[in-house]
This record gives sequence, structure tokens and C-alpha cells, in this order.
Amino acid sequence: MDGVRDASDQDAEACAAIYAPYVTDTAITFETEPPDAAEMAARIAEAQHMHAWVVLEDGGRVVGYAYGRPFKAREAYRWSCEVSVYLELGRRRSGGGRALYDALFARLAKRGYRTVAAGMTLPNDASEGLHRAMGFTPVGTYRRIGWKNNAWHDVRWVQLTISHEEDPPAEPR
Ligand SMILES: CC(C)(COP(=O)(O)OP(=O)(O)OC[C@H]1O[C@@H](n2cnc3c(N)ncnc32)[C@H](O)[C@@H]1OP(=O)(O)O)[C@@H](O)C(=O)NCCC(=O)NCCS
Repeated sequence: MDGVRDASDQDAEACAAIYAPYVTDTAITFETEPPDAAEMAARIAEAQHMHAWVVLEDGGRVVGYAYGRPFKAREAYRWSCEVSVYLELGRRRSGGGRALYDALFARLAKRGYRTVAAGMTLPNDASEGLHRAMGFTPVGTYRRIGWKNNAWHDVRWVQLTISHEEDPPAEPR
């Protein structure tokens, strides 16, 4: 693996291609229409504005990405992010997920964020394993919270403190 770097709109097509099979063939994401490259570029720009979007390269090719976004819109939540990570299909257990999250959390902590949260559709051994390995703690499981591919799905939430600055927290920047 070549490493992790900040994404640009040049990475939109690769990220869209990585994400599409998870949208069309799985309940790992609850989206049902794969975003095209233009929509992905808009998402990358939005994440870069106040959060972060990083990509993993291997052999000069983008093979995975991770990003942060607001956890919820209400003001008091603004030090918390929801995070997501996706590797190209078939690439598993080679350190990519951890490398992406390490780079993402460092950037989010530097911007002033305190907590990251992630929700995973069950079952997902790889995602549960990655989040456990990164030190996330369980929040709880929403039962039958999404309907996709002709079935109800449970979603398990986990959270992690990424920064221990003094309170009150400075505004994210
Ligand atoms: C989830 C995902 C990002 C994990 O990435 P990865 O590169 O396979 O994970 P890593 O190699 O960095 O693994 C880091 C640690 O996570 C844990 N882990 C990873 N895969 C695991 C698995 N299948 N079962 C149990 N633990 C696992 C291990 O502790 C691992 O460390 P180790 O290999 O030294 O034991 C990847 O599998 C993926 O893209 N899956 C599809 C999309 C997805 O589910 N995204 C998350 C949505 S919530």
C-alpha cells in the first residue's frame, strides 16, 4: 500500500466506483442509488470543508476511502462526527481500514472534533472487528431500523473519543 492522503475532486470517480457495489448489492449502506462521480465530488468537497475525506492508494490507484460528516445538525452536537470507511470489494484484512481511520481521526482531532460515531448494519464481522480494534465502545443496536433488499436490518452504533483537550471545547475549524 502506498499510503493515505487527503482526497480531491480527482478522486471522485474512484470513490464512486468503490462505493457502488455496496449500494446495489448489500445493506452495508442504506443508500439505494449509487452516487455518480459528480455527486461524489460534491460530497468530498463538503467533507473537506469542515471535516475530512482521505483516500488509500495502492500501486498509484485509489482502493479505499474514509470521511467524517456532522453527527447531527443541532448545535450542541457539533464536536461529534459520523465516520464511514470503504475499501474496494475483496480487499480485506491488509491494514487498509485501520490506516484510513488513523489518518481520518488525526485530521478530525486537529480540527477540534472530540468524538466519532459509526453505525454498522448487522452482521458485518469486518466492520465490527475494525471498530473494536480501533477502541470504539458499544452504544447500542437499533432493531429492524432499515428495509433494504427485501429484509429488515439492525444497525449497531459505536463511538470513540479522539481528542482529550480541555473543556470548554474550542469551535471546530
Ligand atoms: C470494514 C473494513 C473497512 C475493514 O478494513 P480492513 O482493511 O479489512 O481492516 P484492517 O485490515 O485494517 O483490520 C484492522 C483490524 O480490524 C479487525 N478486523 C478486520 N477485519 C476483521 C474481520 N473480518 N473479522 C474480525 N476482525 C476484523 C482486526 O482486529 C484487524 O486487525 P488484525 O488484522 O491485525 O487482527 C473493510 O472490510 C470494508 O471496506 N468492508 C466493506 C465496507 C464496510 O463494511 N464498511 C464499514 C461500514 S460500517
